[in-house]
Amino acid sequence: MDIEIASIRDLPHYDQDIENEPPAVVKEFKSKVAAADAVLWATPEYNYSIPGVLKNAIDWLSRVDKVMIGKPSLIVGASRGALGTVRAQQHLRDILYSIGVSSPIMLGNEVYIGAVHEKIDENGNLTHEPTVAFLDQVVENFVSWCKQAQHQK
Ligand SMILES: Cc1cc2nc3c(=O)[nH]c(=O)nc-3n(C[C@H](O)[C@H](O)[C@H](O)COP(=O)(O)O)c2cc1C
Repeated sequence: MDIEIASIRDLPHYDQDIENEPPAVVKEFKSKVAAADAVLWATPEYNYSIPGVLKNAIDWLSRVDKVMIGKPSLIVGASRGALGTVRAQQHLRDILYSIGVSSPIMLGNEVYIGAVHEKIDENGNLTHEPTVAFLDQVVENFVSWCKQAQHQK
C-alpha cells in the first residue's frame, strides 16, 4: 500500500459561486483524492468536533464531481485526554455519510488513541507496542475490506 498525504493547508474557503471552476489548489486536491482507492482521515478534535478546515476540505470534495462517493474511509485520531477524539470522529462519520460524500466506513474498527503523549517518542513516532499492534490489525482489516468492496463492484 502507498500512502500519500493530501494537504488541506492551502485550500480556500468553499464557495459555491466558483465550485465549477475552482482555484488550481482545489482541483489538485480533488484529483488526488479521486485517484486514491481509499481515504484515511487522521483528525484532531477541536471543541468536540472536527477542525473547521477539515469540514471545509470535505465540502469541496462533496460537490460537482463528488469524488468521495463510494470511496472507502478509515478514521483515526489521537488526543492527550482519555477519549482519543471520539466526539470528533462521531461528527466526521455523520459528514461522511451525507449524500454528496457517501463514503463507506468499515464497522467495528474504530481507532481512538487516548493519552497519546505517553505513547510516542520525542520525534512523534508511535512506540506503544499494543497500540502499534492494534493499528496494524485495523489497517489489515481495512485493506481486506476494501478489496472485498472492489470485488462487489
Ligand atoms: C481550538 C482547539 C480546540 C480543541 N478542542 C479539543 C477537544 O474538544 N477535545 C480534545 O480532546 N482536544 C482538543 N484540543 C486539542 C487538540 O485536539 C490537539 O491535541 C492539540 O491541538 C495538540 O495538537 P497535536 O495533537 O497536533 O500536537 C483542541 C485544540 C484546539 C487548538
